[in-house]
Amino acid sequence: MLNKITVSAPGKLMLFGEHAAVYGFPCIVTAVDQRLTLTLEPTNSDKITINAPELQLTGYAKNLADIGKGEIPKAAQIIEAAISVFHQKYPLKKGFTITTKCGFSPNYGFGSSSASAVTTIKALSALTSRNLDQSRIFKLAFAAVRLIQPKNSGFDVAAATWGGTLIYQLDHPVQELNFDLIQSNAAIIVGYTGVKADTPTLVGQVADKRNQNPVAVSRIFMAVSDIVTQAKVAMAGNDFVVLGKLMNFNQDYLRNLGVSSEKLETLISAAKNNGAYGAKLSGAGGGDCMIAIAPKAKVEQINREIEASGGEPVNVAIGAEGVKIENN
Ligand code: PMV
Repeated sequence: MLNKITVSAPGKLMLFGEHAAVYGFPCIVTAVDQRLTLTLEPTNSDKITINAPELQLTGYAKNLADIGKGEIPKAAQIIEAAISVFHQKYPLKKGFTITTKCGFSPNYGFGSSSASAVTTIKALSALTSRNLDQSRIFKLAFAAVRLIQPKNSGFDVAAATWGGTLIYQLDHPVQELNFDLIQSNAAIIVGYTGVKADTPTLVGQVADKRNQNPVAVSRIFMAVSDIVTQAKVAMAGNDFVVLGKLMNFNQDYLRNLGVSSEKLETLISAAKNNGAYGAKLSGAGGGDCMIAIAPKAKVEQINREIEASGGEPVNVAIGAEGVKIENN
């Protein structure tokens, strides 16, 4: 029997195109160097046990035959869905214990759920010696995430799977962009609002707005899609001034959609007033994190101002590696 398998996947930040992504428009997502690690230990029983200590879940156990059935605690839903999707496609024979360790606060909105789904599929692929490629891992993990969050566009699953910085569009192959800022004189700054975003509610609010005013909201999505196209060009040329302006435009549209918040606006202004090229919310809005692009020389000052404005600076490098086996 295989020994323990340890797998990790990165968290993510949405750089451009949130909400429009739900309706099939392209977005740009980057993987961050804060990772979720999952360990899978095969056992000789038919029991599956899931531990997710950061979500206060320990010793949640179920027979393999009952996977995906009955009441499932919220903290176990994504992993159980991933096991269930895998098991339907590639029947599992024996039980195991899964334990996750999240290297970032699940409150940041860095995509701990999608990273859990992707690491679960990758670990099961190793356990069963299937060595699924990234496209297959994505497909199964996305199906699992969709069971729990039916409107999820899959951008976070793509970032956890492939890593790097990607143009992601529903039902299209991902395009990898060459953008990591390591050799450049610019940096991405992240500020956590201290408020956990409620993604399904915000996605629902945008859907209501779209039902009430389909023409105006479609125009916003098309304008955001155009921003994504321009951002791709600016990234290829490392044109940070243009990228900053595009972030500001994207934020104007997100504000118009009604998904920004006072706290996000305060942190965005703190970044912009202290030398950032531009700033916006990242993800569903309502809370979670804002991002800014700024000259490296301004990073400390901006982080101080984010803190002074009641935010929490989060240090990340972007373009991190996708899902990988740490050891087995
Ligand atoms: O709240 P997050 O960080 O998962 O971001 C949601 C982004 C949306 O575009 C609003 C939803 C999606 O699945 O693309």
